[in-house]
This record gives sequence, C-alpha cells and structure tokens, in this order.
Amino acid sequence: MAIVGNGSRTSIPEVLYVASNTEEGNVWSGLYKKTLAERQQILAQEKGLDASDIALLNKDGPLPLAAADTISENVIGTFALPFSIAPNFIVNGKEYVVPMVIEEPSVVAAASHGAKMARASGGFKAQYSGSVMTGQIQLVKVKNISDVSKKLEADKAAILAEADSNAGHIKPYGGGVVGMQTRSVMTSQGLMLLVEFNINVADAMGANAVNTILEKMAPGLEQRTGGEARLRILTNLCLGRIVSASATWKKEELGGEAGVEAILDAWALAMADPFRRATHHKGIMNGMDAVAIATGNDWRAVEAGAHAYGAFKNASITTYKKTPSGDLEGKIILPLAVGTVGGSLKANPCAALGQKILGAKTSGELAMVMASVGLAQNLAALRALSSEGIQKGHMRLHARHIAAKAGASEKEIDEVVKRMEAANAVTEASAASALKEIRGRKE
Ligand code: MEV
Repeated sequence: MAIVGNGSRTSIPEVLYVASNTEEGNVWSGLYKKTLAERQQILAQEKGLDASDIALLNKDGPLPLAAADTISENVIGTFALPFSIAPNFIVNGKEYVVPMVIEEPSVVAAASHGAKMARASGGFKAQYSGSVMTGQIQLVKVKNISDVSKKLEADKAAILAEADSNAGHIKPYGGGVVGMQTRSVMTSQGLMLLVEFNINVADAMGANAVNTILEKMAPGLEQRTGGEARLRILTNLCLGRIVSASATWKKEELGGEAGVEAILDAWALAMADPFRRATHHKGIMNGMDAVAIATGNDWRAVEAGAHAYGAFKNASITTYKKTPSGDLEGKIILPLAVGTVGGSLKANPCAALGQKILGAKTSGELAMVMASVGLAQNLAALRALSSEGIQKGHMRLHARHIAAKAGASEKEIDEVVKRMEAANAVTEASAASALKEIRGRKE
C-alpha cells in the first residue's frame, strides 16, 4: 500500500492510494499508526465515501479533530450529538441547570418536567457516601487460602502502607488507600483468592487511580501468597460510592389520587418483574447517561454500576410510597462513580463546558445531581406511561423535525406542527403544505 499526497482535510486528498492488499493482506492493518487523513483515505477507498463524506468527517466542531485524534484510536473524525440543558433542578437547596447529551427525543423534556414538578416540595434531597472505589487482585494457585488470608490480615497495616505509597497521583486531591479485605471465591477453575483495596479517589472517577495501584501491588502479593496474580481491576459495583436522592411530588401534579396510584402500580411491577425492571432502569439511565456524557464521564461505568446494583438487590433502584397527605415520595439509590477532575475532562472542551454549566465542585455534588436527574426521569416516565403513554411526546418532537426538514424556520415550526397535528398527518408533504399556507397568509 502506498499513500502519497498532502493529506488535505477539506476534501479527499489528491493521493495515489494503491489498495494493494497490504503486507498482511489486510488494508486495515496498522491503521492506528496512520495519520487521520490517511485513515480517511483508506476508508474512502474501501467504503466508497465521496468528497462530501470526507468533508463531513473533517468539519471541525467544538472537539477539534487534532484533539479527538489523541483521545481514541483509529480516529477518522468526530461525531456530534445534541447538547441540551434541563433547568428546574433544585438539589439540596441549590439551583442547577443540568447539561445533557442525548439523541433520544423527550428525555430532556421529561427530566426537566420531573424536576419542575418537584419544586413545590423543595426539590431533591440527596446524600453521598464518599468516593471509595474497590479494586480487585485475583490470585490463583494459592495453596491454603485460609492460612494465607489470615497472614495477609495480620500484615494488613504494612500492606496498606505500601499500597498507599503508590497513591501519589491522588494524594494531592485528598485521596489514598483506606482499606483492604481478602475474600475467597469458588469458581469453575477452582478456589481463588481476591485481595481487594478500598481507595478514596476523591473527585476523580478513579479507574486509572485504582488500576495503577493494583498493578503496582500485584507482584508483592504474589510473593506473600505464593500465588499468581491475574486480573487487577476495579469493580464497577462500587458499594463505597453510593448516592441517594429523594423528592416528593404533590398529587395535584400527578393527576390526583388516581395518578399517584397508577405510578405506584407501574413501580410495583418494576420491583416484581425483572423484564419490566430492565426497561424501568433503562429510562433512569437515559437521564443519568446524558449527564455523564455532557460532563465527560464514563457512562458505561455508570450503567454497569446501576444495573449490577439492581441485579444485586433484585429490586428497582427507585422506590415510591404515598405520603400521609396522599402525595408521592420517591427515592433513588445506586453506586455512582463520576468525577469532576481527570484527564478525559481536560481533553474534551465540551466536557469542560458541561462541567462549567452544571457547576458541581466535587464528584459527590455531581453524583447527587445525577441521581436527582435519574429520579426525575423515572418519575416522568412512570407518569407518562401510566397515563397518556410516551408516544404523544415523541411524536411532537418528531413533528418538529419533519417541519424543519420541510424548510420551516425556527419561528414557523410551532405553527407548522400545529397544522400537521390538526390534519393528523405528520409527513413532509403535510409540513410543506402547512408552510405554504402560513407563508401565503403572511403575504
Ligand atoms: C424509553 O427510552 C424509556 C422508557 O421505556 C422508560 C420506562 O419504560 O420506564 C419510557
């Protein structure tokens, strides 16, 4: 394979790309070693991309291409999603405008509406346990695990001191190693020893901090146990990093007594049935993931923690009950590893902006707002599902999209949507005819 050219980023570079099946007979081999422009070339050749496709990939957005190229591997461009805000959140007495990045219609509106309805009762009250993550070192081939565990427990102070001496990177933020436990687990491969470290990662998400300490501690633990260290990785079921949030919604906001009962019925099903619970939790994560993305956090870790916690408890991560005055009180509780400092936040200017808009000073504050978003999202979903359904809201946004596609300006969209709804036809043709009518009327 040969690539010759200037690697221009605005059109397909004038290159002589010979898609000779490379050394290994695979045009994709060594892709990560190539420049961004070279990768685009290969892709264009292999997948028939044209100049307009390449121009789209090269469109510089808020995340510059050069920065994107340092964040991940095999980068060919950047990928934009709607960046929204959900106002109306009061958490522990403080007002927040919550940044959310999500492509699904209605999620932002639902979160914001759920938060607005909670304002009459003072918004959300939230609590955070602290930022203790647990990392596991898996040791196999340990003989007499029971005796070895006792010895490790006896030497705990020295082992902890050694682990903490490897925590230099989180010390400036107030972090450090705060505990250790041993466990044995019977597996299909035999009995294994786990040595687990509990690490206060302060305001970082903490994965790098934890995994670095584990990798440094593993060789010494092999010597102490006579075993072989295998996995050295944190658990996303981080029970030392639990957040909870609660709020009360007045029954008048929820369709009266019948509305409250309908929401309780919907929630009860999620508690009792894992199939419903999966979707119930998906809705909660719609909101929480959107905030995680907007603030540059690892939403897969957030997802893993939430779903694992629900499975661990065999229950919904939200609970609801009727108050003595007939209003609805809701609570969410889950493990949540998110940070307000860390490399990935610095790398993406949009994430830094998301953090700035939210204004959370600590990972605990961020977690408490995110949990409140999850609860607001869940309440709004249960309310919609147990009354008019969710399609009406979805269709309204879809109609806006169709109106815009038909050429409606920002000022014309609402009127076009109204006319399409009245005509019971949300189609481009109906939008075009509504637009013609509106414009005709003005002339
Ligand atoms: C859709 O993305 C989310 C919901 O399905 C959540 C739920 O069912 O609770 C509406």
